[in-house]
Amino acid sequence: MKPEELEQTLVLIKPDALKNSLTGYVLSQLSEFHTGLSFAGAKIVHVNQLLAEEHYAEHRGKPFFPPLLEYIQGNVHYPDAPDKRRVIALVYRGPGAIQKIRDIAGPTNPHVAREKRPGCIRALGTIVPIKDAEGNVISERMDNLIHASANPTDAEREIKLWFRPVDIPSLMRAYPTEVCEEHFYFKGNQLYTTHEPESVCLLAPGDIVWKSDLEALHALQNGMPPCCSLQAVAAKYLINEDRE
Ligand code: GTP
Ligand code: MG
Repeated sequence: MKPEELEQTLVLIKPDALKNSLTGYVLSQLSEFHTGLSFAGAKIVHVNQLLAEEHYAEHRGKPFFPPLLEYIQGNVHYPDAPDKRRVIALVYRGPGAIQKIRDIAGPTNPHVAREKRPGCIRALGTIVPIKDAEGNVISERMDNLIHASANPTDAEREIKLWFRPVDIPSLMRAYPTEVCEEHFYFKGNQLYTTHEPESVCLLAPGDIVWKSDLEALHALQNGMPPCCSLQAVAAKYLINEDRE
């Protein structure tokens, strides 16, 4: 198969879509019948602060970053029901997967989506003003129902952030893997190769890991610049663990 036929993309069905019971609608819009794409991975994720920050790292420092983190973590749509704070993370694969899903999702801003692309998924989204303590509007939040990777580089970074290799059947993996031969532990934003009290074991000998993650961990061990941050590697292993 040619590389473009194996193209993969990450889709997140966000908390506002779940709250508004649009999950089935989104899944049918993206179905193989309509798009020619098929699933490679799926998981229900209770998004923690680390994962939210890593996913939206490019927006760090922007005024809408804090409300964006609250939104993706489900705090906005389920303030009184922590058990319902979830997103559905999906990997789709197939020819032109990234552009096909971006087209069905539509423009980022739901108002623009309604004007320019009525019928797209984000045309059903909402813009919410963010106010300070005095009630002045200081920013806005775009509740736009789904996320879809923007390009192949983002898709690779995002799929590796949300999915371990073993979450994806081996025949459907798009990126190289390796077998880990050491222990790696994480605690207080630090990497350890031996167990520390209260540390989390990220990897153990025999685990299948994204090759680039292992390269990043080895670079960090040797004081070299890693291809992705320790937080980006660790976030995936802490998904649904309820500890950071
Ligand atoms: P995603 O698929 O969610 O990544 O959207 P996108 O690729 O169309 O947009 P982008 O990655 O630039 O932004 C990620 C998210 O940040 C968007 O879905 C919006 O919720 C939010 N966002 C992006 N740009 C703005 C902005 O200018 N203002 C506000 N308020 N929110 C923004
Ligand atoms: Mg984006």
